[in-house]
Amino acid sequence: MSPAAPAIRRDVDLRHLNTFHVGARASYFVTVTEASQLQWVLQWQQQQQIPFMLIGQGSNILFKADYPGLIIELHHRGIEVVAETADHVDVKVQAGEIWHDFVVYSLGQHWYGLENLSLIPGTVGAAPVQNIGAYGVEVKDSLLELEALELATGQLRRFTNADCQFSYRQSYFKQQGKDRFVICAVTFRLSRHPRLVLDYPALKSALTAVAPDQLTPQLVSDTVCKIRRSKLPDPGVIGNAGSFFWNPHVNQQQFERLKAQYPHIPGYADPDGIKVPAAWLIEQAGWKGYREGDVGVHKDHALVLVNYGKATGAELVALSQKIQASVLDKFAIQLWPEVRIV
Ligand code: EPU
Repeated sequence: MSPAAPAIRRDVDLRHLNTFHVGARASYFVTVTEASQLQWVLQWQQQQQIPFMLIGQGSNILFKADYPGLIIELHHRGIEVVAETADHVDVKVQAGEIWHDFVVYSLGQHWYGLENLSLIPGTVGAAPVQNIGAYGVEVKDSLLELEALELATGQLRRFTNADCQFSYRQSYFKQQGKDRFVICAVTFRLSRHPRLVLDYPALKSALTAVAPDQLTPQLVSDTVCKIRRSKLPDPGVIGNAGSFFWNPHVNQQQFERLKAQYPHIPGYADPDGIKVPAAWLIEQAGWKGYREGDVGVHKDHALVLVNYGKATGAELVALSQKIQASVLDKFAIQLWPEVRIV
């Protein structure tokens, strides 16, 4: 064993390592703090011929059963300016940094572009995988490049923004690159000058009373935090993983048919079609505030499934399937989980 080899623990309780706080156990668990350890750990896992998965803050995962392999918690830390001009800075951030802490740090340095993405749970390394997005901004808007370990070769590979093939909650790392790479560090290009994005309806209306010269990235960040706290339950208090489903896209014809039947249906045009809020569909199907034992649909946001205490992953999956069936039945729209079910 090399001196840098981290301790691999057996039969580990995952309850505090997933924001749904469901009880599940991993056969093996390891915390990795630097890239050299990661290579050693992956060699060990291949020798054992067991599956592995990466975990950051466990904020987008639902364990429906025990995990029969090795869970690797990435803890690489570090923030470094790698280039700068009068207009922007390029900041390289290690994968294990906590996303929101990095957003707060960047604002403190007067580096702008991430303010709308405040308070999103998770790590920096996980952010590009599903192209996290909120309040009109996505991580792809400021990601310059990233570094990922290719499992087949053990080589570090560089991906430009275009290589990552980002789209709504999607990237190369969830498609062709799935299970083939571990993202180790991400470089962001942040602006030294505020460039506020205020089009998202909830954000716009929260800031209407503010005079234009008072609008700052810090205020935008504070407002986003306030909106999120008012709508989304704190996973520290009630187990949840934010939005459970993707917002589905329909085509213009489908949307017009729906509109004829449900004149108030919201829809937002984007390059993939018309995005209909899944929360609206779920609320109209009568699920908002629903509770059955310790599983439920949050009372303030219909897209958030919650664990009130002792719910199991299997119970949450069962509820999500009932919701999918009822939305399909009422609107002929299939919802797909955004949360990764393991
Ligand atoms: N709505 C309802 N009922 C509800 C909640 C919302 O009908 O209970 C309708 C309203 O029409 C509202 C619309 O849904 O205008 C959109 O709601 P919201 O602004 O809360 O956004 P969302 O579409 O539900 C998405 C992301 C969130 C992100 C917000 C803000 C997805 C799957 N989710 O939610 O991301 O914070 O926009 O940009 O795209 C997450 O991924 O975990 C997450 C929280």
